[in-house]
Amino acid sequence: MSAGSTTGGQRHLGGTMRRDAWWLELLPVITLLGAFGIYATARAFEGTYYAWGPYLSPFYSPLIDPHHRWWPFSPALLILIWPLGFRVTCYYYRKAYYRAFFLDPPACAVGERKHHYRGETAFPFVLQNLHRYFLYVGFIFLIFLWHDAFHAFFFDGRIGVGVGTLVLLFNVILLTTYALSCHSLRHIVGGKLDCFSCAAFGGPRHTAWRWLTVLNERHMLYAWISLITVGLTDLYIRLVASGTITDLRLM
Ligand code: FES
Repeated sequence: MSAGSTTGGQRHLGGTMRRDAWWLELLPVITLLGAFGIYATARAFEGTYYAWGPYLSPFYSPLIDPHHRWWPFSPALLILIWPLGFRVTCYYYRKAYYRAFFLDPPACAVGERKHHYRGETAFPFVLQNLHRYFLYVGFIFLIFLWHDAFHAFFFDGRIGVGVGTLVLLFNVILLTTYALSCHSLRHIVGGKLDCFSCAAFGGPRHTAWRWLTVLNERHMLYAWISLITVGLTDLYIRLVASGTITDLRLM
């Protein structure tokens, strides 16, 4: 079906035969991604209140040169390009922000701007193809975040549990689930294969592919939950570190 027939022959921006409120689904994307972008940028440049006791904000992990011996700016600026690149190039987020922020297209069967469509074959969007490399680096970051969650169980050398411990643990579980549900990862494990039993390590790959497929089916959900959680985790540590609230010790 041509673009003209799906939009009822109306090729101008927003032209469509759809009778539903198709634009409604853009609002939460604009609100959530916009709010997260503003908050994360402000926190990345702030450079303070990122650690308290055994807790370290995920925006600042791994913590590099906190005493500014050779890097005069916020430590977060040294690392955020990697998790940011992972999210920005994510297949799900691309769909969401292409629609919400570029209106390209605004929704299924809704007219878009007139331009020569080149997909992701030219600069800058060709860089979206780096996603799988951001995924590899993302797993290295997850190792640091799991280490931070483990470290959050130790208060002055003694084992304990605070609300912050649970917050950090919950956060890294969700970030790991989001990474494991990645389309690229599923493709790496089981893509380009017509026959698992004929391939090297076909049995384990098939098992892994089936599990990753279960997670992959809810990739959008994990993308949003983990985005909100990582923001709230940083906010919690900022509030505790700044003395605005007190971390409750549970054990
Ligand atoms: S496709 Fe979304 S994280 Fe890889």
